[in-house]
Amino acid sequence: MFTEIEYAAACAFILRETGIVLDSSKGYFIEGRLKPIETDAGVNSLGDLIRKAETDRVLKQKVIDAVSTNETYFFRDSKPFDLLRNFLVPQIMEKGNSLSIWSAASSTGQEAYSIAMSLKEILFDLSKFKIKITGSDISAEAVQRANHGVYSRFELTRGLTPLQISRYFTPCGSHGEYKVSDELRYVVQFGQANLLTSPIFNGIYDIVFCRNVAIYFKKEDKRLLFERMSRSLKPGGSLIIGSTESLIDFPDLFSREQFHGIVYYVKK
Ligand SMILES: C[S@@+](CC[C@H](N)C(=O)[O-])C[C@H]1O[C@@H](n2cnc3c(N)ncnc32)[C@H](O)[C@@H]1O
Repeated sequence: MFTEIEYAAACAFILRETGIVLDSSKGYFIEGRLKPIETDAGVNSLGDLIRKAETDRVLKQKVIDAVSTNETYFFRDSKPFDLLRNFLVPQIMEKGNSLSIWSAASSTGQEAYSIAMSLKEILFDLSKFKIKITGSDISAEAVQRANHGVYSRFELTRGLTPLQISRYFTPCGSHGEYKVSDELRYVVQFGQANLLTSPIFNGIYDIVFCRNVAIYFKKEDKRLLFERMSRSLKPGGSLIIGSTESLIDFPDLFSREQFHGIVYYVKK
């Protein structure tokens, strides 16, 4: 069992490195996630693990990977993808043939590939357009999985219909897994980035999905996050947040809009 001082040091480290706030009720979570790393690293306590992780880049990334919650699934909350297909993309494509979308905090890639599938459903031949979908996440492990584009049958059935599975995935390997089609893979790229500190490209995205990550941040970091999301968008670009999230505290950054009851935010 960790001591209170060790636990506080671990929480401070995680907050500093990721922005993720862990309160006193998360002791079991930290213990479950970090104990195996402590054993592997050959240190005797959580305090020693955190001290070592401060200067050991590989160990630091292992701790970050372990404490990030990567829960996601294809077409999560479905409505943002209806908004994309029925309103946002047709509106952008009226003006040209290029489109750039950022899945910020893309976890293991399901959100970015769901965006690609949505585009395929309305644009048909993606190679005829200049499409760039970028996924990024702080977890190196999650980014590696997203890049690989290989999912278990269980992961596919969380959100995809049998038709979508047969259309966009092919069986691979000997463990009953499926690989995303080349056509979707070619329009999506993934990279590792911390949304609060990594350099961002200003004004390049038409649409940003930033869902189910701000919930882990304190108020000041939420502001920093949404300022950065705003800067990354083109003038008039759209931001889509999670179904339980709100931008009520940041009326200076975005205006709240609706399409058939689906809420999204436009850069001011
Ligand atoms: C719950 S998942 C959400 C995934 C996806 N956006 C969705 O809604 O299904 C949250 C993701 O945020 C990532 N994350 C947490 N803090 C981050 C940070 N500071 N920078 C980038 N990603 C972060 C985690 O690694 C995790 O993959």
